[in-house]
Amino acid sequence: MQTIFQKIKEIALKVDQAIKDQEMGYSEQCNASGDDQLKLDVYADELVEYGLRELPLVKAIISEEKEDVMPVHEEGKYTICYDPLDGSSIVDVNLSVGTIFGIYEGEPSGETLVASAYIVYGPRIEMVTVTRGGEVQHYRSGSSQLFNLCYKAVRLEEKGKLNAPGGTQKNWPPHHKAFIDSLFAEGYRLRYSGGMVPDLHQILLKGGGLFSYPGTSDKPDGKLRLLFEVLPFALIYETAGGEAVNEQGKRLLELKAKHIHDTSPCFFGSRYEIHKMKEAYGVL
Ligand code: AHG
Ligand code: MN
Ligand code: MN
Ligand code: MN
Repeated sequence: MQTIFQKIKEIALKVDQAIKDQEMGYSEQCNASGDDQLKLDVYADELVEYGLRELPLVKAIISEEKEDVMPVHEEGKYTICYDPLDGSSIVDVNLSVGTIFGIYEGEPSGETLVASAYIVYGPRIEMVTVTRGGEVQHYRSGSSQLFNLCYKAVRLEEKGKLNAPGGTQKNWPPHHKAFIDSLFAEGYRLRYSGGMVPDLHQILLKGGGLFSYPGTSDKPDGKLRLLFEVLPFALIYETAGGEAVNEQGKRLLELKAKHIHDTSPCFFGSRYEIHKMKEAYGVL
């Protein structure tokens, strides 16, 4: 897996440069999820694709920005699903964005996910990786040594302080609104930027809390895509001692995607917050 993580570091440098250099603006197309594609979405997607194609280990790749599965090497071992630029709607106002990778052995699903990685492009470039059965590893870049400046194992507390409630509030189900309000009544701090990578990175590194993107009246199956957004973070949060469930309280890592762009309502957090969510949703 180190070969793949090393390649991800190289790709990250190129995407970071593209974020700095690429002119902002929309391409003429939209992707399979219906997102309008930034020129930067398309360019970042090319950078990730070219980088992954260089690895003989890669059997196929799946991108947020491409309709279909792309075969790579016949004898490859892994299918890598990725979101080349997460946070397209906030990169134009210079907020932190990311790239997310799910590494699957076999048909991509919660059970075949063997490793995840994400990159945060912020004041520094940071990377978090996990291999199933291992520990969550956090790498921070410095001006000279990229990603090796600080390697730290990451663990979530039993109960956190931060609350990142996604989705349009007026479209939340009433029981979800009551649940989110109950966390604020307990004193949780609102931390939501509209980029799942920095939002989940913050909760992961600051001891925990809850990130949620529920099913809503306008998006009953949620907005976040299983293969390259939801499942990679589910493996990271579970490995760090937290939980990651859907609206039925089912582990996200038990889910399968019928279509490669399928979405799922998702709740990531410390044990205390997920227990409260299951109570509020009547799925304890
Ligand atoms: P992407 O930029 O890859 O399309 O993903 C955006 C996602 C995710 O980063 C974030 O949590 C969510 O969209 C925000 O959605 P809302 O704008 O509906 O809050
Ligand atoms: Mn998008
Ligand atoms: Mn995304
Ligand atoms: Mn994206």
